[in-house]
Amino acid sequence: MSSVAVTGAEGFIGSHLVETLVADGHHVRAMVQYNSFSSFGWLETLSPEVLDSVEIVLGDVRDPGSVNGLVKGTEAVYHLAALIAIPYSYRAPHSYVDTNVTGTLNVLEAVRHLEIPRLVHTSTSETYGTAQTVPITEDHPINTQSPYAASKAGGDRLADSYHASFETPVVTLRPFNTFGPRQSMRAVIPTVIAQVAAGQTEITLGDLRPTRDFMFVKDTANAFRTVGTAPAETVVGRTFNAGTGGEISVGDLVTLVGKLMGVDLLVKEDEQRIRPTNSEVMRLVADATRLREATGWAPLFSLEQGLEQTIEFFRDPANLARYKTDIYNV
Ligand SMILES: NC(=O)c1ccc[n+]([C@@H]2O[C@H](COP(=O)([O-])OP(=O)(O)OC[C@H]3O[C@@H](n4cnc5c(N)ncnc54)[C@H](O)[C@@H]3O)[C@@H](O)[C@H]2O)c1
Repeated sequence: MSSVAVTGAEGFIGSHLVETLVADGHHVRAMVQYNSFSSFGWLETLSPEVLDSVEIVLGDVRDPGSVNGLVKGTEAVYHLAALIAIPYSYRAPHSYVDTNVTGTLNVLEAVRHLEIPRLVHTSTSETYGTAQTVPITEDHPINTQSPYAASKAGGDRLADSYHASFETPVVTLRPFNTFGPRQSMRAVIPTVIAQVAAGQTEITLGDLRPTRDFMFVKDTANAFRTVGTAPAETVVGRTFNAGTGGEISVGDLVTLVGKLMGVDLLVKEDEQRIRPTNSEVMRLVADATRLREATGWAPLFSLEQGLEQTIEFFRDPANLARYKTDIYNV
């Protein structure tokens, strides 16, 4: 059984990736950010059979010793830990640089010095900014419109530089918007579904015009596993978009969710949820041809299928109880 490490393992995508890696037969060293509540995040909800193959390691990517201990002796490292909320990045930009830039540097240094054979670094479509050409290929200019996007792009540039300078075997996966069970209410789909599941018919949102390429989390986890295991010559040193190529506006998405949940929704625009004009990314749609051609990966879930699974998750009272549906979750 090979051993792999995941940072951000207790989070939304990370917890799904842990399940995927365990199903593939790996032993997973899962970094959970140290906290005084002894909370293991979403890992606490995984089945005992999955958790049998998971070693929880409390730590912090900002701490080099923590990262070295996590990755030592593993065959692959999946680096997902990050601060991800765009609105909070307006308020606390230093913490974004510490986590997303310095944290990534610590992971790169550990992988380099401990000679780990594969690192999957996580980027984001937000680094492209509003699409200048569509669909967005990996050659699209980088235009960072928020401190979050800038900090993620900083991590990406470090990853590229480590491959160029030290031949560090890093591959960068750049997911477009991911959704599914366990996502926090910082993202639009859980915000809509959770409010409806909690019995509200008037829901509160930000700008309804931006369009996004929404991909179901199981397809994202599969993309991570694919680039983590593909032959080095096909993926190492490269960046890959992961998205469906589909596009829907936030407004149309709300209508679709309402239809799937059997309710007529009234949307109230909330001033505090609107991004500053030049910071709002108006359009994101992926061209994932490079990933498909290099590895054969393709998304398996339609938007509707993914939404159905997400709705089912939020309709379970035990899951809904973990969310604060009556406040704005920054
Ligand atoms: N959700 C999306 O739509 C999306 C799209 C593109 C890229 N991404 C990227 O995917 C990754 C996972 O995002 P997610 O949506 O699962 O968010 P998430 O917030 O659920 O997961 C991030 C995890 O990182 C952990 N973390 C934060 N600071 C840490 C630190 N200092 N040390 C150790 N762990 C720390 C958090 O505890 C959390 O579990 C991130 O790198 C994000 O930038 C997400």
